[in-house]
Amino acid sequence: MTGTAPSFETLQTPLDDPSAWRGADLRTQTDWIVTLTAVEIAEIEGALAGVRDRQADLFALSRDDFPLPTLSARLEGLLPVLEGGRGFALVRGLPVERYSEADARTIFWGLAQHVGVPESQDGAGNLMHDVRDTGKSFADSNTVRDYQTDAAINFHNDGADIFMLCCMQTGASGGQSLLVSAVEVFNEAMRRRPDLAEVLQQACWHMDTRGQRRDGVKTQVMPIYTYWNGQLTPNYKNSLMYAAQRFPDVPPFTAAQTEAIALLDEICSDPDIALSFVMEPGDIQIASNYATFHARTKYQDSGDTDRRRHMLRIWLSIPNGRPLPPNFEGTREFGATYARRMTPNGEKT
Ligand SMILES: [Fe+2]
Repeated sequence: MTGTAPSFETLQTPLDDPSAWRGADLRTQTDWIVTLTAVEIAEIEGALAGVRDRQADLFALSRDDFPLPTLSARLEGLLPVLEGGRGFALVRGLPVERYSEADARTIFWGLAQHVGVPESQDGAGNLMHDVRDTGKSFADSNTVRDYQTDAAINFHNDGADIFMLCCMQTGASGGQSLLVSAVEVFNEAMRRRPDLAEVLQQACWHMDTRGQRRDGVKTQVMPIYTYWNGQLTPNYKNSLMYAAQRFPDVPPFTAAQTEAIALLDEICSDPDIALSFVMEPGDIQIASNYATFHARTKYQDSGDTDRRRHMLRIWLSIPNGRPLPPNFEGTREFGATYARRMTPNGEKT
């Protein structure tokens, strides 16, 4: 199994970090929303026109193929927000209703090129996922993943440094987006139950890989929060931790683990701590998988094709990504980013 790595220092106090925010503080602010200007939208459409005949080979398109004369700097300006800052932004105003689905995919891919390097999201190596209801259920299969259902998704982080989620269509109802600061959640756990904050840092959390590891490994075991290099770096998949309990060689949760995971749920659901918002068509959520956890409420599609929730998702490594703890090496979610990363000394890890 991956992650049986050496134990790490245990953080015993809350961490003072720029990414430790509370939803209650952000609800009255709008500086986490970046609204595209008419000039920027014109740049996007100009870039699209330049590559439309190459859409069949979309994933070969690079940043140079999709020039954005002024928007590029604005997107790059998000990098210190994503790593070292608040940890997320919402880019608003892309008029997706004007575009065919193929054009919208091209635009989303092109924008992502100005933020980082896309990473594979599954065992098959796919670089862009469609987040929509496939009619399948998580419980029906050992490989179905939450994003393929219409169910509520518990707080978790994705893979690679950041995820970008582009709303193509909303459903008939529900599907609200929720974000929390992963550091603030830890800090709150430390304030309420320091004993459980310690459990969160123990390498005792088995996670079902949903058959997505190319090496066939069925579960990964690691801490929920790894404190390393002065940073708290999480890997939290609530539903995958419960799913891993079905394997006979995975130890049942201890009483302390059950309490710790319940505490995380309770803190993440605290309306003062979580930030909730509705993604409208054209909204692009960009968030760090280390600084934030995300969730969504259950949604309902209607039979009409225009009332079926549909998001596009890309996972990216970013150029200013943090050094990753050694137990992230080879993991399903972070292995590719780990392999791409350089150490603080400039050596390849
Ligand atoms: Fe997710």
